[in-house]
Amino acid sequence: MIIMKSWQRSLLKLLNQESAPKVFFGTGTKEGVTTAIVAAKAKFVTQIYTVELSEALYRKASGKEFKNKDKVTFIHGDSRDVTPKYTRSIREPVFWYLDAHYCITKDREAAPNSFPLWGELEAVRDRGIAGDMVWIDDTHTFGKARPDLQQPWEDVTDKSILKFMGRSVRKSEMIGKGFVLWL
Ligand SMILES: C[S@@+](CC[C@H](N)C(=O)[O-])C[C@H]1O[C@@H](n2cnc3c(N)ncnc32)[C@H](O)[C@@H]1O
Repeated sequence: MIIMKSWQRSLLKLLNQESAPKVFFGTGTKEGVTTAIVAAKAKFVTQIYTVELSEALYRKASGKEFKNKDKVTFIHGDSRDVTPKYTRSIREPVFWYLDAHYCITKDREAAPNSFPLWGELEAVRDRGIAGDMVWIDDTHTFGKARPDLQQPWEDVTDKSILKFMGRSVRKSEMIGKGFVLWL
């Protein structure tokens, strides 16, 4: 049985609306927890892509067994390179779940330190597909100086994201720990 956190239930509620994109693309696979939940429980999602920078984490996540794993394509690579390739090649609406950044794993190991968010957002914005949705994870760190995370979160706020995305955004809302955009 999968035990879900409340933000994961919020994510699924969005995905389980018939009008939501049927393709899910996640950055920062880590151990594949959210990937497995989406595969098992998002009933309209037909295809899932997930990209991870750390080879060890990529191997760990892709080696796990879970329901509907055949829907998932695990990608080992840097989201800064991989995401723009997919923003160009997938020509239908996508749910972009952006969660790639430094973090500590369950085994207390440090995941690689990089912060691809702005490049990911640029690639999604510039592909210009109406119907895309974007979930930017970790709203609790927005606008904060987090030297412990070695990341520039202080530049990330709902306002700075909306300014960066410009007129591509039709609607936005804070949901769970995600800042969600409808393009
Ligand atoms: C917060 S964790 C992701 C948690 C995961 N989404 C989940 O729900 O279980 C962040 C992950 O992003 C990965 N990461 C960091 N920079 C990355 C990059 N440039 N490209 C791909 N993955 C990256 C880290 O290795 C780490 O595994």
